[in-house]
Amino acid sequence: MTNNKLILVIGGTGMLGKPVAQQLRADGFKVRLLARNPEKAQKLLGDGYEIIKGDVGNPASLRAALTSVDGVHISLKGGPTEADFNRMDHIAVRDIAQTAKELGVGRVTLISAYAVSEEKADTPESRSKLKGEAALKSSGVPYTIFRASWFMETLPLFVQGKSISLIGNQIHSLHWIAAEDYARMVSKSYQTDETLNKELYIFGPEAYTMGEAMSIYAGYAGVKVSPISTRMLSIMGTVSFNTEWKSMATLMGHYERHGEDGSSEEANRLLGAPQVMLKEWCEKIAR
Ligand SMILES: NC(=O)c1ccc[n+]([C@@H]2O[C@H](COP(=O)([O-])OP(=O)(O)OC[C@H]3O[C@@H](n4cnc5c(N)ncnc54)[C@H](OP(=O)(O)O)[C@@H]3O)[C@@H](O)[C@H]2O)c1
Repeated sequence: MTNNKLILVIGGTGMLGKPVAQQLRADGFKVRLLARNPEKAQKLLGDGYEIIKGDVGNPASLRAALTSVDGVHISLKGGPTEADFNRMDHIAVRDIAQTAKELGVGRVTLISAYAVSEEKADTPESRSKLKGEAALKSSGVPYTIFRASWFMETLPLFVQGKSISLIGNQIHSLHWIAAEDYARMVSKSYQTDETLNKELYIFGPEAYTMGEAMSIYAGYAGVKVSPISTRMLSIMGTVSFNTEWKSMATLMGHYERHGEDGSSEEANRLLGAPQVMLKEWCEKIAR
């Protein structure tokens, strides 16, 4: 398929931005990346991308990257401090949306999370994401927000040595989603106007609690599941001045409290339902 549309991906070197950039390209879009380190981006993604050096905190580079594009996909990540969540999940999204509106960009797509809502805004990250979503919606630029569930790709990130840390009392069933399914859905969203001005819930095909998903992954990765409470992780973070651990304890506390709500029916109807099952994904990465 050929496609003359030019899409900017911001965060295209990231865990979830890279597969989106690759899928857009595979679907025939021209893809531009805004990258702090163009050499790193080129190495990670290879040829076939236009790379603009810049930073979302630098208005001139943001404007240059947004010039002449048909759409922009935002896949930034904030934290671990409150100021940094606000800077990336709120202020950067607001600035991108406002600049995109000024330049007449056709649409902005944004990754968000399922537990982002007024009632659930009880952590620095969820508050910042909620403000970012609100800024995008009020900017006047056409948008699609992807409120995704937990990604299968995060499971290996909890492995330390021979164990995988199950942090907190994670009772909720979650529809684990593979990045490849999500990337296909984001790219598809650029091929229809029916996705405009919507928040779409992106849920994978099967539901497992975090403990269940980790047990399945642990079987393939040859590690054992080690539970730790959010309180213990927070204390360890405090005594060792480890901001990442403290932030992780806060994040996992959020997910202890909030399960999935929202429905993936509309996303699946418009973009095709996700197909990749957790065991299939584990088998693929264990190979
Ligand atoms: N994990 C999940 O299950 C899940 C579920 C739902 C939503 N999410 C959300 O998905 C988002 C993306 O997560 P991720 O894991 O893909 O993050 P990630 O791997 O850390 O990627 C972040 C990207 O942002 C870029 N970036 C950072 N600061 C920048 C700046 N100042 N200017 C321009 N680019 C900058 C990074 O580029 P560099 O290469 O320069 O560092 C990188 O490409 C997060 O907001 C996360 O909360 C995650």
